[in-house]
Amino acid sequence: MAVTEAEEPGRGRKTYDLEIIKWLYGFSGPYRKYLFLSLVLMLATAALELAVPYIAKIAVDKYIYPSWRVASFGGESGKKPGAEELENKLLALGPSLVVELGADSYLVDISAIGNEDRSNLEKLGIAGGEKFLVVKPEELPAEDRAGIGGIIDRYPAAFSEAGGAYYISYGALEGLGRGDLLTLRSGEIREVGILAAVLFSCLVGIFVFSSAFTYLLNYSGHRIMHRVRTEVFARTLRLPQAFFDKNPVGRLTTRVTSDVNAINEMYTSVAVQFVKDILVVIGVFAVMFYMSVELTLFVALFTVFLCFFAGLFRMRLKTVYRDVRRSIAKLNAFVQESVRGIVLIKLYNREMQNFERFKDANRENFKANMDQLWVYATFRPFIEFTSVFTVAFIIWYGGLRVLALDITLGALIAYLYYVRMLFRPIMELAEKYNIFQSAAAASENLYDLSHEEAEPSGGIIDGPVKGRLEFRNVWFSYNGADWVLKDISFAIEPGETVALVGLTGSGKTTLVNLILRFYDPDRGRIYLDGVDIKELDPEFLRSRITAVFQDLFLFGKKLSQDGQDEFSRSIKIEEIKNNGDVISSGEKQLVSLGHALSRDAGILILDEATSSIDARIERNIQTALRNGKHERTTLIIAHRLSNVRHADRIIVLHKGEVSETGTHASLISHKGIYYNLYELQSEMQRFSLLAD
Ligand SMILES: Nc1ncnc2c1ncn2[C@@H]1O[C@H](COP(=O)(O)OP(=O)(O)OP(=O)(O)O)[C@@H](O)[C@H]1O
Ligand SMILES: [Mg+2]
Repeated sequence: MAVTEAEEPGRGRKTYDLEIIKWLYGFSGPYRKYLFLSLVLMLATAALELAVPYIAKIAVDKYIYPSWRVASFGGESGKKPGAEELENKLLALGPSLVVELGADSYLVDISAIGNEDRSNLEKLGIAGGEKFLVVKPEELPAEDRAGIGGIIDRYPAAFSEAGGAYYISYGALEGLGRGDLLTLRSGEIREVGILAAVLFSCLVGIFVFSSAFTYLLNYSGHRIMHRVRTEVFARTLRLPQAFFDKNPVGRLTTRVTSDVNAINEMYTSVAVQFVKDILVVIGVFAVMFYMSVELTLFVALFTVFLCFFAGLFRMRLKTVYRDVRRSIAKLNAFVQESVRGIVLIKLYNREMQNFERFKDANRENFKANMDQLWVYATFRPFIEFTSVFTVAFIIWYGGLRVLALDITLGALIAYLYYVRMLFRPIMELAEKYNIFQSAAAASENLYDLSHEEAEPSGGIIDGPVKGRLEFRNVWFSYNGADWVLKDISFAIEPGETVALVGLTGSGKTTLVNLILRFYDPDRGRIYLDGVDIKELDPEFLRSRITAVFQDLFLFGKKLSQDGQDEFSRSIKIEEIKNNGDVISSGEKQLVSLGHALSRDAGILILDEATSSIDARIERNIQTALRNGKHERTTLIIAHRLSNVRHADRIIVLHKGEVSETGTHASLISHKGIYYNLYELQSEMQRFSLLAD
């Protein structure tokens, strides 16, 4: 039982990860072919990279280093077990690789025989230590034959002849003149030249292919990032208000910016590169294994050790990396808060304390960076050290093997290359793990965000615009526990002006939020012109209602020219425009009111929309509202009760309930909450008049 319980989340997690990968893969859509192409180019690059050392090996073994040795099967060594078999094997190679010297001895091109046979030649004491160069004049092209024939005639002591082939010991080559030596070896020089050309083309290929895949990969990465960002932002815009209550602005900004970048890195430097790195490692091992099993086992041992260390490094890096990120976030938040609250800091002379706290955060950041630095500073040099150590080991141990004819000199040289090729991806894989992790976290975040339930959309998109608004037994709570609105019922007739008053926190703004469908009521219904607003398309609903809120936010700095009808001109909105970039709270409200009133919507809602405006303009606004009052249904929320006196009806909201309804006069005579509030405000006004 306990086992299944422990397994469940794991299994759920895996399918979830799979979902995320599928989702991410979906974005690659039209760019998939580029990703595929870059993978192919990458593989081509990897193959060419693998080929380079091998070409060097061929050049050394076949053409540069003299590879002919004498093998004598006569006497003591010829009687050893396996010697006869070996002799037959050599004879089977044919005259191009074996030259009979007579008396059971041969000249053999040892670069052309297998590792095992070569090693046995040495072990059985058959192979001589001296190296030879073999020339077969009749196999040479006609133009070379005369020249080489002349050289052979000129140094009769150095050359020996056997069955039409001439051979000269490596030591004796030094006795030849430089010109003669070059002529003698012109065939090999030509071959080395060809190999050098092949090598060069490989390098050009690597250059071209890797530029192409870098471009393609990043191009598709940016394209995909662009798509992800568009999708995520579009999704964000469609999320319900409740989502924004729970998620701070900073977090959402991170989603759309850095998290999307992390996905890009995922595509460009992790996903595809990872495949290449793995293949390079496998390829290097395969080629090395082919050249020498024994040496490869040693290299594998070093590699395992290195991987173990890289694993340790990765774990350590994970913590230091997290610490660095945390300390940066802390520092950012602190600076942001300080700059925002600079007025308060100055007001309360908190500069020093603030600075001290900043120094703490800064020190923490420094420490985290130092930890990270330490990890990096030890890791790379350690890898470098291990790599160089492995190279040194190969020179020593491989050198011994070369002397024992176990491997060729060319193979040793290729090994030195391959080992370095092997360690680079291992180091990178360890370092890339970071990118991989943050990309994984980012993908998860983005996946979750784009799978948040969007605001309901669709529904009725037209109908008569009369402006009758009705609440019927509406209950609502933000958190599912505390009722903010309790059993609210009232109706506003078309063209009527209703004021909503109540203490701070009594639920007035919440009521407006429900009308605009930023939230849906938990119980009860709200009707607009007889239709439940749940059945209306939210966009249509909002186009029929104009609302101006307490907390305003104007987009950008430019005040737009439109929205200037009679009303906005009457409050001189143009004056504001010339005042520069920063405008006052009251000015902001004026601009918003101007825009709102110029919209021809059936219902106007003003939630404390004139709280920051001076009394003179406010009176103008009141007049303007009263003049146009029969054109629209108006809901006014105001704390200054003098502003709502002229409303057709006043609804008093108290602790989420409608406690009184009526005209100003009737509510005053009722002597309830409204009366008390009104009395209090008038008294305060009298008081301030007295004080003046
Ligand atoms: N987004 C929200 N999430 C959770 N609770 C909220 C949210 N908005 C408001 N509330 C809570 O609901 C209650 C009513 O708030 P509301 O903004 O409707 O009051 P109000 O009558 O408009 O007050 P004020 O006169 O200050 O504008 C308050 O207790 C408030 O804390
Ligand atoms: Mg409010």
